[in-house]
Amino acid sequence: MAKTQTAKAATLSKAELEEELADIERRALDGLEGVRVPDGLAARMQTFLGRNGEMNRALEHLVDLPKAERAEVGRRANELKAHLETAFAARREAIEAALLEGHLREEALDVTLPGRPVVRGRVHPAHWMIHQITKIWAEMGFQVYLSREVETDEFNFTLLNMPPHHPARGEVDTFYTTDPQVLLRTHTSPGQIHVMRERAPAPIRVVLPGMCYRYEQVTARSEIQFNQMEGLAVGQHITFADLKGTLTAFARRLFGAPVATRFRAAHFPFTEPSAEMDIECFVCGGVGCPVCKGTGWLEVLGCGMVHPTVLVNGGYDPARFSGFAFGMGPERLTMLKHRIEDIRTFWGNDLRFLEQF
Ligand code: DAH
Repeated sequence: MAKTQTAKAATLSKAELEEELADIERRALDGLEGVRVPDGLAARMQTFLGRNGEMNRALEHLVDLPKAERAEVGRRANELKAHLETAFAARREAIEAALLEGHLREEALDVTLPGRPVVRGRVHPAHWMIHQITKIWAEMGFQVYLSREVETDEFNFTLLNMPPHHPARGEVDTFYTTDPQVLLRTHTSPGQIHVMRERAPAPIRVVLPGMCYRYEQVTARSEIQFNQMEGLAVGQHITFADLKGTLTAFARRLFGAPVATRFRAAHFPFTEPSAEMDIECFVCGGVGCPVCKGTGWLEVLGCGMVHPTVLVNGGYDPARFSGFAFGMGPERLTMLKHRIEDIRTFWGNDLRFLEQF
C-alpha cells in the first residue's frame, strides 16, 4: 500500500498494477462483515473508493501502460469498482437492518401487561372544608364572591372602621408591599366593601372564601397564611335575631342536627354589636374535655351587626339598611372536626398528612 500512496513517480507494469488492484480488492473486503456501524462503513468506502482513495491512486498508473493493456486493465478496474460498490451497499443494508431490529427489540411493547396504577389526587382538607361550608351557605341562598388577596390599606382597614392609628391595626402584623398603601389582606372582611359597592342599594347575601396573610411567628396555632370564610347579609329589616338564627342553622348543618350554640359578646371594629359563636363541644358533649379545654364549648366564628360606618362606606344608608356579617377559619374548623393539633400540617405538604383525607 505504501507503494501506491507514494507511487506517483514510480512506473508500474501491467502485472504489478493488476496485483495492486487485486490487493485493494482483498483488503477492501477483508473483515467487511465485522463493520457494524454506518460511520465505520463510510470510512472504509472513503479509504478505497473515495476521490483520493486507493482505487483512484492506483489508476493514476494506467497512463504508463501501452494502449492495448490500458484498456484491459481499465475494464478490470471498473469491474472491481462495481463489485466493491455492490459489496458496500449490501453491507449498509445489513447494518441498517440490524440497527432497526435492535431498536425494535429494545422498544418492544407488551400490550398485554397490566398498566401502572394511576395515583389519584385528593382535595386538600382545607378546600374540602371550604366546599362543605360553601354548599351549606349556597343552600341557604348565599352567593359566593371571590375578592382579591392583594388589598389596599384603605379597604383592609380604613373602610372597615379602622382609620390610621386605630388600636385594632396593631393587633395584626401585616405583610406590606414596597408601597405602604398596598398589602396582603389580613382577613376576608375587605371583600364586604367590594361587594357592597358593586351591589348597592340591592339586598346582599354572600360568602367570601379565600386566603389571608399575617406576618406572624409560625407555631402550632398560627400560620402566616390561612383561609377565611367571610359572610355578609344586607337588607332592610335584618336584626340580631336573624344573625343568631342563620348562624345556628349553619352550625347544625355543619356539625350535626341538635348541636347547641351560644353567642358571647366580643368586639370587632366593623360590627356593632359583635359576638363570637361557640358550639357545644362535639367531643365530650359539653361535659368538658382536653379538646374544649374543660369548658364544654368550642369557639367557631366571629360575627356581628354591620357597623353603620361600614354600611355608609359600602354605599348603603344605615337609616334604611342593616345587616350582619361573620368570619370563620376553615382550617380551624377542620382541626376541630378531625382533632388536628398543629396548623402547620396544612401547608407543610407532608403526603402522610394529606393522604389521610
Ligand atoms: N375579620 C375578623 C378576623 O379576621 C373575623 C370577623 C369577625 C369577620 C367578625 C366578620 C365579623 O365579618 O363580623 O378575625
